[in-house]
Amino acid sequence: MMNRDQDLPVSPFSPLTIGPVTLRNRFIKSATNEGMAPEGVPSKQLVKFHESIAAGGTAMITLAYCAVSADGRTLPGQIVLGRHSQPHLRVLTDAVHRHGAAASAQITHGGCFTFIRERSTRRPLSASGGFNKVGLMSGMFTKQAMTEADMQQVASQFVSSARLAREAGFDAVELHLGHGYLLSQFISPLYNKRRDQYGGALDNRLRFPAMVLRQVLDAVGKDMAVVCKYSITDGVRAGNNAEDGAAIARILEREGAHLLVLSAGMNVESITTMFGSSFPKENRVTASNPIIAAAMMIQGLTEPKVDFRELYLLEHARKVRAAVQMPLAYLGGVKSLSGIEQVLAEGFDAVALGRVLIAEPDYVNKLAAGTCRDSLCTSCNRCVAMMYTPGGTSCVLGQPGDARLNSLPAAY
Ligand SMILES: Cc1cc2nc3c(=O)[nH]c(=O)nc-3n(C[C@H](O)[C@H](O)[C@H](O)COP(=O)(O)O)c2cc1C
Ligand code: SF4
Repeated sequence: MMNRDQDLPVSPFSPLTIGPVTLRNRFIKSATNEGMAPEGVPSKQLVKFHESIAAGGTAMITLAYCAVSADGRTLPGQIVLGRHSQPHLRVLTDAVHRHGAAASAQITHGGCFTFIRERSTRRPLSASGGFNKVGLMSGMFTKQAMTEADMQQVASQFVSSARLAREAGFDAVELHLGHGYLLSQFISPLYNKRRDQYGGALDNRLRFPAMVLRQVLDAVGKDMAVVCKYSITDGVRAGNNAEDGAAIARILEREGAHLLVLSAGMNVESITTMFGSSFPKENRVTASNPIIAAAMMIQGLTEPKVDFRELYLLEHARKVRAAVQMPLAYLGGVKSLSGIEQVLAEGFDAVALGRVLIAEPDYVNKLAAGTCRDSLCTSCNRCVAMMYTPGGTSCVLGQPGDARLNSLPAAY
């Protein structure tokens, strides 16, 4: 493994500084919606889930999908950042810190990708108005183009959520700029049809997400790492491709983001690009949540079957690595020590792991101890269907989550 600046070997167990935060090693748990916030606040099961990953050696956990407002949720039972959730979040960050790991909160807004009907606007907000294809599943068939006043309001919700995360003990916030949520609805030409200064060329499409990033950096960037997760490619012809992904990275670097987590794909159009492989047929049958079941059915109908390949996003991620100097976390199909060594050797600064840490929360400690090289995860994608089961997200190779702990808010 070589460091791209000094041609020195980089150990996956060496520290990494991102903004004002130093991580103990190069392993980051990527956000995986756990379905462990039935009351809209973290459950005891969610604390247990992240604590086990922190105890297992990972440098930073990411708490998935923390909505910046009630309207920003995609489904009921997601965390909404607010005074009511703060004590429960504090229990989670304390538990993670006890094991020497850092905690990042993924802060986000779903825009028109939402199934929440009780909302403050008549129609869900997005970059552009008109027909809402997500509405085929949610019943909300039209969406509403955001005005500049809407943008200011949502930006200030991101800022207050970042402040709240800081008060709850988080070391980082991750702005979700990918996968088809609100900020990526501005970035992607699949959703952004605007003719004003927020639409058209990529710089314009980034204008609102960059404004959110700047405001969050101004508010908390001295104390917290501000991470951006985005889709390098939308994974469909009419969307952003990896060249656009490299240009997006340049803009986020210019705006001062501390780390980019390099994802790909869109929830509706190209879920296979995100996961690097198709969902197995039995998943579509057993998904207990009707939305997940519908999404999997659509994927089955619209996307060709794709077989999993280790490091499946590497070709795209290399284009980003060549375009910027800033710290980058490689994400997508990391599941062996040789894969980890390869991405660090290619100049990526960290590796983000999703499924592998669901399967084996102590994978990093096992690597450090030399007791394993390859993860047990088979990349079967069946954990996705576990998301909204009573015990929450878990690996089908192990035990399901504890439904009782998942019914109890963390702080009580
Ligand atoms: C069960 C599950 C839930 C996920 N939920 C989220 C989420 O809430 N936010 C997000 O950004 N990515 C989410 N992802 C995507 C992962 O963060 C990651 O991008 C993807 O799993 C690829 O990484 P991997 O190959 O290491 O698993 C989820 C993945 C899984 C398996
Ligand atoms: S359910 Fe499958 S993809 Fe998910 S963590 Fe377990 S083995 Fe990996």
